[in-house]
Amino acid sequence: MKIVNKIIRYINNKILRTPGLEFIQNNLDQIKRKKHIKFWINRAAKIKSFQKYFFEQNQSNKNNNSNIRFKNTSDFKISENMFDVLADNGVVVIEDALPKNEWISILDHFNDLKSKNEYEKNWNTKPKNPNFFSKANELAAEIDITEFPYLNRYSKIASREIYGKTVNPTVEFHYLNLTEDLEEKTRGATYLHTDRFVPHFKIFYTPTSIDEDSGPFQYSVGSHKINENYINYFIKGKNYDETDEHSRPLINQTETITTKENTLYLAFTNGMHKRTVFKKKNKERSMVFLQYVRNFNKFNYLFS
Ligand SMILES: [Fe+2]
Repeated sequence: MKIVNKIIRYINNKILRTPGLEFIQNNLDQIKRKKHIKFWINRAAKIKSFQKYFFEQNQSNKNNNSNIRFKNTSDFKISENMFDVLADNGVVVIEDALPKNEWISILDHFNDLKSKNEYEKNWNTKPKNPNFFSKANELAAEIDITEFPYLNRYSKIASREIYGKTVNPTVEFHYLNLTEDLEEKTRGATYLHTDRFVPHFKIFYTPTSIDEDSGPFQYSVGSHKINENYINYFIKGKNYDETDEHSRPLINQTETITTKENTLYLAFTNGMHKRTVFKKKNKERSMVFLQYVRNFNKFNYLFS
């Protein structure tokens, strides 16, 4: 049985992995890049539910959906209006997102994460420091979505709407604490960047508030829409961030997502986004990330 699981894991991680930036980063030939990008974008265009979110372009004279912040609905769902805002902007914020008991449960999980080796919660992996940032201490662990019924409900509603089917998320808890005075920019994190060129979706939940100084998320509004400028940026890019000349047409208006406690936001991270740098020492950031890339992979692009 072990060997079968190993083979399945290998196929999922290596062969069926959702196309990222590896191919275009390893192939400087623009004709090859174009072929590769067009192939996968065409596959994505065949997924009906992607049309509204990634392919239908915004009409610039229509400005109904510019307010990206909402209060929770009475039944903790994602309203039609919220989805429209997400489709136009690439990001939408829901305040007071979870009922109190689930919010408290998430805070308890963060305390457990910080408890250093006396873990009591059902983490899938032992919490550890991924050592990704040079001047920020980080602790991270994965957990199953079924631990959090309301978060799971948001996730199911969102994945059904965007991917056209329920996709199980990977759930990561991340706790960040800046240890030195000023944080340097880290490529792939604190520069405006794109995660991949195929549609990419994440849900973020912040149990505690995140102000200007504690590294809030920033998003370039509308940069998730797949059009000529978008494709050009990927064909001609080098770093796939704001330092690339061809990123300019994708960066117009940016929104900084400072949050109150108990806030959830959804974002398309194939568009330009970043975590801003920490501006003060000993600032904390607790965040839950929901990602779908592991369970919505090449297979879904090829056979949807
Ligand atoms: Fe990213």
